[in-house]
Amino acid sequence: MTQDELKQAVADAALAHIEPHVDDETVLGIGTGSTANLFIDALATIKGRIGATVASSEASAERLRSHGIPVYDLNGVDQVDFYIDGADESNRALQLIKGGGGALTREKIVAAVAKEFICIADDSKLVHTLGNFPLPVEVIPMARGHVARELVKLGGDPVYREGFITDNGNIILDVHNFPIAQPLATEEKINGITGVVTNGLFALRPADVLLLGTTDGVQTLR
Ligand code: 5RP
Repeated sequence: MTQDELKQAVADAALAHIEPHVDDETVLGIGTGSTANLFIDALATIKGRIGATVASSEASAERLRSHGIPVYDLNGVDQVDFYIDGADESNRALQLIKGGGGALTREKIVAAVAKEFICIADDSKLVHTLGNFPLPVEVIPMARGHVARELVKLGGDPVYREGFITDNGNIILDVHNFPIAQPLATEEKINGITGVVTNGLFALRPADVLLLGTTDGVQTLR
């Protein structure tokens, strides 16, 4: 199977996972990226049966609306029942690196609110140690130099993501050559640098379920 077919399989599996539990009161959090896009397209087939969605990016909100799926502001809902999103890497504890698409901060906010975070990914994303994928860090623009110097002190190699501005008006530093042996401590340490909005480690709030696309079928990790 191709990587795109594996992504389609996990998007379909996520729909099958939530379908028995949804009704017109259900609020779904929707992630960002190519796997989340396939989930959005699958969700369109049951759009009349859900209450609303909240989106982790302007791009996903636009795709949802193009299908006629209602998108609410997060402050306009009392709960998010499920959050469905992809990842750039996951370890077996379901701690993730996210933010390859630059939506990490809104993704982290929606994940924080969600009762269940369902991560959908093809099996190329499953790793023993996080950090082969460069860790995205969203930074207030005026703090770019300061944060970069602090990231170098932590042992990383930050690279400015040229020509990219987040939905929140900030910049991204991608930290290369930065194996992450202690995801919880690293997430907290980087978030403690003044000028950092957040970083793409999802260890303090990992996924609850990982639907992993493999050539032998979709595996469910908890
Ligand atoms: C966007 C993300 C995505 O979930 C991550 O980059 C995975 O993307 P894709 O499904 O296209 O492989 O964190 O900010």
